[in-house]
Amino acid sequence: MTQRRCGQTGPLISPLTLGLMVRDCKPGEAFDSVRRTVLRAVELGITSIDMATGYGGGAVEQAFGDILANDLNGKRDSLFIATKAGWADGSRKTLTESLERSLKQLRVGHVDLYYHHAPDEKTPFDETVAAMESLVRHGMTRYVGVSNYSLEQTVRIAPLFQQAGVPLIAHQCNYNMLNRWVEDGLLAALPGLGMSACVFSALNQGLLSDAGANGPRAGSRAAKSLDAIVNGVPTGEPAYGRYPAGDVRTHVLTMLRELSRIAKDRGQSLEQLALAWVLRHDAVATALVGLSSVEQVEAAAATMAHPDFTDEERLRINAVLPPRFGMR
Ligand SMILES: NC(=O)c1ccc[n+]([C@@H]2O[C@H](COP(=O)([O-])OP(=O)(O)OC[C@H]3O[C@@H](n4cnc5c(N)ncnc54)[C@H](OP(=O)(O)O)[C@@H]3O)[C@@H](O)[C@H]2O)c1
Repeated sequence: MTQRRCGQTGPLISPLTLGLMVRDCKPGEAFDSVRRTVLRAVELGITSIDMATGYGGGAVEQAFGDILANDLNGKRDSLFIATKAGWADGSRKTLTESLERSLKQLRVGHVDLYYHHAPDEKTPFDETVAAMESLVRHGMTRYVGVSNYSLEQTVRIAPLFQQAGVPLIAHQCNYNMLNRWVEDGLLAALPGLGMSACVFSALNQGLLSDAGANGPRAGSRAAKSLDAIVNGVPTGEPAYGRYPAGDVRTHVLTMLRELSRIAKDRGQSLEQLALAWVLRHDAVATALVGLSSVEQVEAAAATMAHPDFTDEERLRINAVLPPRFGMR
């Protein structure tokens, strides 16, 4: 799997990142499933892993720490471990104590990338930057990133990191075929700020899959995401799309089935097409994917055998996805 540079001068990382946000890590079959998924991902070259201090109340980092200590012993340096903290709280106290907790939970001396999870307009950006600077200086993280920051906030904070000599390399943002808000300036701005996009929910929580196109399973995350689109609820993420008036559910499912056909003509599944599509953009370093089984890991990894699009495929996709779809 060919690695891609994260940031303008940052490290090379795998184009796919294993996201562990919703994994149940209880001892027994749940933990074993996470373990199998992580090990298969690493075996296939998905060496970038994304977590947060608070995922599963700390259980996710604990579980990954177990896997690292017992199964990936000696492989730490070949992995790119990212975590994040400070949802709407960029204070020195939260950012420092959360990373201290993460390092304990993971049982490592440092992470590779530490994100401020979501912007905080109450704490001066200077404090957030100074806190991150200390964490880098103390060797607790190699690089830093921001997540869920708007274009305006990103453009405002990035120069402060640069002035402080802090390696700000990544913006973790929501981006997929049904939510293209980052095309409204953020993707274009990132390289000039020394950053790359590390995009999450590239499968729109499983809706962008052949299974999703056939009508997502009731109660699944994909079904909830479709409901959110239909109801126009922002789901806590920036800018869900504006869809044409009328029967939005039928419109979205028709669109997904059309995309599924395009994927099939490329010899791919819709989930593989959706991953290749976000990675088509040079400003995107990696796509974070919530892979919940070995089969899903193998399917995602196989995407990288056919990542490029012909002009004809681009035209077909653009005809299905109206330009600026999902933009504010
Ligand atoms: N910074 C932030 O605020 C933020 C927010 C959200 C996510 N993230 C990060 O991004 C990662 C991924 O995000 P996400 O889980 O929201 O979105 P996602 O990757 O778009 O969707 C993950 C879901 O897709 C389904 N899926 C995966 N492969 C599939 C396949 N081959 N066929 C059908 N369905 C498939 C799985 O559903 P099933 O489990 O039902 O099979 C899985 O739960 C997270 O783990 C986290 O690390 C960050």
